[in-house]
Amino acid sequence: MIRDRFSENIKKDMSTEEWLICQDTYDPQENLKNESLFALSNGYLGIRGSFEEGTRVTLPYLYVNGVFDKSETFMRELAALPNWLGVRLYVEKELIGIENCEILEFSRVLDMKHAVLYKQYVLKDKKGRVTKVEGRRFVSRHNVHRMAIELFVTPVNYDGIIEAENIIDGTIVNFYDAPRFKVKHMYLTANETLGEHGVYIESATRDRHLHVGTGCVLEAYKDGRPVMRNRMFHAFGEQAVEFGDVPVTEGETVRLVKYVSMYTERECPAYALHTTIKEEVDHFMEDGLETELRFHENVYDAMWEEADVCFEGDPELNRAVRFNIFHLMSTGNETDDRVSVGAKLLTGEEYGGHAFWDIELFMLPFFSYVFPKMAQNMENYRYYLLDAARENAKKNGYKGAQYPWESADDGTEQCPDWTIEPDGTCYRCYVAMYEHHVTADVAYGIYDYVRITKDLDFLYGRGAEVLTETARFWASRCEYVAEKDRYEINQVTGPDEWHEPVNNNLYTNYFARWNLRYVMSLIRTMKEERPDDYEALMKKTGLKEEELEFWNTVQSKIYLPRKEGTNLLEQFEGYFQLKDVVIDQYDENDWPIRPEALKTCKARETQILKQPDVVLLLHLLGEEFEPELMKENYDYYEKRTLHGSSLSPSIYSVMGLKVGDDSKAYRYLKRAALIDLLNLQKNTREGIHAANAGGVWQTIVFGFAGVSIGKDGILNVKPNMPKEWSSLTFRLHYDNAWLEIRTDGNNQAEVRRLDGAPVGIWINGEKKEI
Ligand code: BGC
Repeated sequence: MIRDRFSENIKKDMSTEEWLICQDTYDPQENLKNESLFALSNGYLGIRGSFEEGTRVTLPYLYVNGVFDKSETFMRELAALPNWLGVRLYVEKELIGIENCEILEFSRVLDMKHAVLYKQYVLKDKKGRVTKVEGRRFVSRHNVHRMAIELFVTPVNYDGIIEAENIIDGTIVNFYDAPRFKVKHMYLTANETLGEHGVYIESATRDRHLHVGTGCVLEAYKDGRPVMRNRMFHAFGEQAVEFGDVPVTEGETVRLVKYVSMYTERECPAYALHTTIKEEVDHFMEDGLETELRFHENVYDAMWEEADVCFEGDPELNRAVRFNIFHLMSTGNETDDRVSVGAKLLTGEEYGGHAFWDIELFMLPFFSYVFPKMAQNMENYRYYLLDAARENAKKNGYKGAQYPWESADDGTEQCPDWTIEPDGTCYRCYVAMYEHHVTADVAYGIYDYVRITKDLDFLYGRGAEVLTETARFWASRCEYVAEKDRYEINQVTGPDEWHEPVNNNLYTNYFARWNLRYVMSLIRTMKEERPDDYEALMKKTGLKEEELEFWNTVQSKIYLPRKEGTNLLEQFEGYFQLKDVVIDQYDENDWPIRPEALKTCKARETQILKQPDVVLLLHLLGEEFEPELMKENYDYYEKRTLHGSSLSPSIYSVMGLKVGDDSKAYRYLKRAALIDLLNLQKNTREGIHAANAGGVWQTIVFGFAGVSIGKDGILNVKPNMPKEWSSLTFRLHYDNAWLEIRTDGNNQAEVRRLDGAPVGIWINGEKKEI
């Protein structure tokens, strides 16, 4: 048991085994992956799981959501901020560090139940001095401006003095280990003492001069009394360091606590940053680490009450599922509606912290059902950027609002035009130019959020405005082809990015039509039932009856490609004419092996896909299609999908279950749940795959528990449990109720209302009042 390696100081608070992710050997080659896995976030900021003393291989990033900057990069990205993690301990100038000493014992443990990262090691230095170090860190979710590190240090075979350095490191740059891309987004504006003790660094983003302050105090205690002596502050360029002596006695433990606070100009005027942070640290020290930690744990306990998914039969997989939920919920924000959730959460630097369609289709269902307030904030984030989307449409020659493929803080397109490979070769990146479906995905997100939460005020106000402007975009994006008497959408990329660009991507065309139809019926309802909202919408958007009539014509004539005389939907016009390459070999994990044919031709010349496209449409709008059609299309496209994106396996799992082919569903779930823990995509160093994390939750709730909302708008539960599980339990918010759903191995479901108003739902085909 990993817990037994820790002393009572730590063990008393550590959760039980099923909540722990453990690392029990130190391999520097694994550092970057582990930094992502062990990252901690509290919705406000995220810090990677680097070591306090520093290691050679590291990307020690700290981000505050919403603090973006461009400088010399291609796009605005989350800026790597001064990092407060540094605590370096020395004995007679020898660093007590994981890479400087012989490792006698080592473990790190992420406690997902309480979002605490533990570590324990016993190190022997060159002179044979042995030191035991154990400790923990957390970024408080109770007060997001408080973070702490606690270390218990025991000199096993020596007495003397441990020299301690309390560091804030402002030298960290984005893309630290990539010479070509390195960028420093922050410039220093202050490097000084925090107060009588402690260090303070203030820096600002280079483009918009947004100030960020970080302050901390390192204290050492023996038997509860402060023992740090000879403190000295040093400003080393962009590093702030406070030195102090800690007297130690053989076999006796000293406790070091680093109390940290951060604020940015997003919450506090620049002139007040230093004093605010100083006061926060002072109060934190008065309250004590334990008090804050207890509050933080209580918040996490409450969050898990909402979010836990528990099944009997496969504890390892359950832990992996919790790991995905843990990172996703840790990043969601219930108080700030000007930020969204990036494709790598706040755990790594790929995609610069940008929000993609990953939000609406992969993460939003989780947030809407589990943390509706966070979902509402994500919806408001899109609403605030509506003007920028209007500008974007105008710039590209369209009407209405066109959402950017990648979105940061100001809503302008943040997808780079160029991609540069590590060897320096450049290629043009056309994603932003062609991947227009994101605008329909944003519209669909509103519909989905509202049908789950029944937040009609949002729908009839902000939601209707976005839906109107996105519909307007589609009406202007469609081209009328007179000789065929139909509307077409040409030169787009669908979800499958390996065919770029194409004409009449079914997914895009279908969702353009869906957007037009949905808003038209919404406006009719508003006119009858919410005349004031209707008037306000017409006034705000300048919408007229003639325009609605035009939309009606467009939607009735949008071309939806399919193979004539069959049930097969065609991914895009001409897809079936491409070389038909099928996946017919699978590896030992039942994962598709890249077909030989792709050695001689490019994927885009074949029918091989990166990720679901038609199948995703069927997943999202299943109630519009007949079961046989869904099955035939699933069978056809599944054999041609290589899962080149982490957004792929979960959708195939849910859809496999939906069409009655559950042979692979469980393996797809395993693949998705373990993507980061086993580094299956080989890029976990860049951060946790956020969309996949949302997909894992969907696989269980929509797939195995069979939760859906039918055409009647009512929640439906129709389980399809894997033979490996004997029960499955989770909780959802739906309408105004909070429900617990429990399913047994025979697909019998029980639904209990834990809170809120009575609600009617379908359980295995029977309507029940809960
Ligand atoms: C996928 C996109 C996704 C993006 C960010 C790409 O590899 O193809 O669908 O939005 O990653 O997660």
